[in-house]
Amino acid sequence: MAIMTFQDKLDELNRRHALAEAGGGAERVARQHKEGKLSARERIDLLFDDGTFEEMDKLLAHRCHDFGMETQTTPGDGVVAGYGRVEGRLVFAFAQDFTVFGGSLSEANAGKVCKLMDTAMKAGAPVVGLNDSGGARIQEGVASLAGYADIFLRNTLASGVVPQISAVLGPCAGGAVYSPAITDFIFMAKNSYMFVTGPDVIRTVTHEEVTKEELGGPMTHNATSGVAHFISRDDADCIAMIRELLGFLPSNNLEDPPRRASTDPADRGDPELDSAVPVESNQPYDIKDIIHRVVDDGDFFEVQEHYAGNIVVGFARFDGRPVGIVANQPAVLAGVLDINSSTKGARFVRFCDAFNIPIVTFEDVPGFLPGTQQEYGGIIRHGAKLLFAYCEATVPKITIITRKAYGGAYCVMGSKQVRTDVNYAYPTAEVAVMGPEGAINIVYRRELAAAGDVPALRAEKIEEFRARFANPYTVAERGYVDAVIQPRETRPRIIRALAMLENKRESMPRKKHGNIPL
Ligand code: HXC
Repeated sequence: MAIMTFQDKLDELNRRHALAEAGGGAERVARQHKEGKLSARERIDLLFDDGTFEEMDKLLAHRCHDFGMETQTTPGDGVVAGYGRVEGRLVFAFAQDFTVFGGSLSEANAGKVCKLMDTAMKAGAPVVGLNDSGGARIQEGVASLAGYADIFLRNTLASGVVPQISAVLGPCAGGAVYSPAITDFIFMAKNSYMFVTGPDVIRTVTHEEVTKEELGGPMTHNATSGVAHFISRDDADCIAMIRELLGFLPSNNLEDPPRRASTDPADRGDPELDSAVPVESNQPYDIKDIIHRVVDDGDFFEVQEHYAGNIVVGFARFDGRPVGIVANQPAVLAGVLDINSSTKGARFVRFCDAFNIPIVTFEDVPGFLPGTQQEYGGIIRHGAKLLFAYCEATVPKITIITRKAYGGAYCVMGSKQVRTDVNYAYPTAEVAVMGPEGAINIVYRRELAAAGDVPALRAEKIEEFRARFANPYTVAERGYVDAVIQPRETRPRIIRALAMLENKRESMPRKKHGNIPL
């Protein structure tokens, strides 16, 4: 046998690399493209800054020798993983390669993902998972299921330590959905789907006919179930959005979010804001108009735009500092708090708190939504989540009451009493236990029953009540708001408050963890 030269050894290395880079081969990659999807390597290239990707375990091989698998050795084993830079900052990512055994999860490639996550935790950098997989590798049986469980454990341990972002870019079914579900944000691209049990199983068990798209398509999970946070046109759009999101987040829980230079003046007032909130308290307006006017360059990165529109959450910057914004939306259901808006808001507040992102709240809320549907659905339990999240949050908190702060919702939405640092109210603010109409009916029930001219008495009492509570001065007199501000000065006020709170330190009593009402 001829002795191998160094060149031979290099050729062998290059051959193995080329095999790994080919994935499942040109034909299968062409099929991905035909379906409007990119290959795993193309996705990784889009995610990272040019030339920064360092691949891990490129030559990893599966260890299954059953069902003809021994003859199919595809280096990399269906997942491309490694680290690189996103706008110069370290990020870890893995991309399931659907062209290799349908991107299915094997014992070996689960080990690769776990190694990546363990390293990301040590390095203190975010993990992005680009999912496109037929699920557990059927040939490997329980070894594959164990691989999933290993990943779920890491997702859980990493939660609150490094940001975790999932993109669903193809199939994601069965228990495989639970890795994305534990992560902080889920993006879904067109043609992707997520479900625990598919249409076939549903047909057999419940005799319902439902398509894959209806059951678990991007709109279903963005608008109906609330499982996903973002919807994108295609893979490239999705990955561009992930890069944008990462720009608001710190790399880990010990860092502050990255501050950028801002060209939008910190002292920029906006006279238009003085008329943004209608004086009549039952007139709707779009809170996003106010948000866009006050944040840097009008740039608001909305999270869960299509779900529970009565609360608006998302990221923005003030003088270059990232913040999380939580705002009641008077244009949808009058901004009322219900089950879905409570859970949406609570999860967002907890994310911000875990990652040192200040929370700016715009409050205009008539209270919790009444009705049997809400009570039977557990509005007490779900509303308590939002309350718990606000109480627990130790990041800088700033609340601006634009109009109504009624009832329990006053307490919940970043009141002074839940240790909000800076509370402002517009002159249009109304803070009361409930709206004047409802209050009058209860407080003056006997008088109203006995009155000759009921409408006149009612009008008089409503006016009395309104004069007493439908203003910001009762709360200002008590110090529950720190100042009543002119709406035009909202931006400079928030910026100065954030600067004042830059080194805020507040802690929680020592405990294993709280018991948020799940
Ligand atoms: C091994 C798989 C696979 C899997 C797909 N492939 N899924 N190989 N294990 N789970 C292979 C196919 O054999 C095929 O190989 C290639 O990937 C592409 O698959 P196609 O079926 O040709 O693609 P498509 O028509 O687009 O259909 C995609 C699909 C379908 C809908 C995902 O492949 C499918 O139903 N797969 C099985 C899904 C499933 O039941 N998985 C297990 C779920 S249980 P060739 O060589 O022909 O190209 C689970 C539990 C997780 O995941 C529990 C965690 C707790």
